[in-house]
Amino acid sequence: MNHPESFKAFFVQQKEGKTTAGVNTVLFDFLPAHGILIRVHYSSLNYKDALSATAQNKVTRSYPHIPGIDAAGVVEHDASGTFNEGEEVIVTGHDLGTNTSGGFGEYIRVPSEWVLPKPSTISLEQSMIFGTAGFTAMYGIERLKRELITPDSGPVLVTGATGGVGSLAVFALSQMGYEVHAATRKTGASDFLLSLGADQVIDTSDVSDVADSPLLSRKWAAAIETVGGSLLDAVLRQIQDKGAVACCGNILGKELQTNVYPFILRGISLLGIDSAFCVRELREQIWDNIASIDFSKLPENYYRIISLAELPFEIQKILEGDQTGRVLVDPSKGYKRKKRRT
Ligand SMILES: NC(=O)c1ccc[n+]([C@@H]2O[C@H](COP(=O)([O-])OP(=O)(O)OC[C@H]3O[C@@H](n4cnc5c(N)ncnc54)[C@H](OP(=O)(O)O)[C@@H]3O)[C@@H](O)[C@H]2O)c1
Repeated sequence: MNHPESFKAFFVQQKEGKTTAGVNTVLFDFLPAHGILIRVHYSSLNYKDALSATAQNKVTRSYPHIPGIDAAGVVEHDASGTFNEGEEVIVTGHDLGTNTSGGFGEYIRVPSEWVLPKPSTISLEQSMIFGTAGFTAMYGIERLKRELITPDSGPVLVTGATGGVGSLAVFALSQMGYEVHAATRKTGASDFLLSLGADQVIDTSDVSDVADSPLLSRKWAAAIETVGGSLLDAVLRQIQDKGAVACCGNILGKELQTNVYPFILRGISLLGIDSAFCVRELREQIWDNIASIDFSKLPENYYRIISLAELPFEIQKILEGDQTGRVLVDPSKGYKRKKRRT
């Protein structure tokens, strides 16, 4: 098998209790001994990557480590014979970038069960515009649809609307004909959210700063709730009868304090989204759904492509909740490829 002796990666290390991260040349043997070697063309930045890169929330158990829960690239070698050399593939979730070297490096080596062929109608770049964030948004929407939430059911609320999951939920719901109410804390984000297809932009405080009552006025048929904690509790109390809330995030903490009335008096469903461990059949269906989206409708400048060296700045920004839209990572940007070893 041909491969270079080393490759560039965003390398996170811990020494004497201090976490440091930066671009390093990493020996090839650092990659785990799984069956499929993939040359990464694009990864994308997700909130979980920022936690892994800064050693928070025990996302990553041991360092040194290469984060990056998403990767889209080309198969260089497959010991299992499932994929052909040169085939374009996607890997998101599973253990990629958490405790297995991830997409913030020029190469990954993963088990074949984690790898999906890229849908032919989208490019590697487009697949990472969605990445885990968009996959999560589409997983949430799929679960709402299975709860019979249709465009006729009424407006759908999206929280954390300028973030990765939120913004792609706004875009995809709008493309599917839903009335979308986008909740954001960012003053000045209205034009961005309207350009994604939001019908109404509301301040997150209008959703969260509500009375303590166990039930509140019915405002939305459903929600894609990306923030968690007290915001999730407030949303649950404002959903219409037989509505549903897909929840994925823990930005406001892992605890959820709520009451049973939304469930036992209004028949609301709380739907958990676990994109990392979504079963393969559903995973393939969600990628097919992503591939059917009209990417040309995404606003200009919705995403940008950065190099590994630019990651520290973008990681800090996502930790502070300041990202708008998506950040793609090209691990080779700014570097020449190393000479191959035969
Ligand atoms: N369960 C899963 O499968 C899964 C998959 C992907 C992501 N996630 C989780 O989902 C969450 C969102 O991920 P992401 O990648 O979309 O992150 P992101 O790009 O940082 O977006 C999160 C958004 O939440 C809002 N926000 C941030 N801090 C907040 C605060 N203190 N109070 C209220 N709102 C706040 C911000 O939007 P505004 O400024 O517009 O309000 C921010 O842009 C994270 O917790 C992530 O770990 C889970």
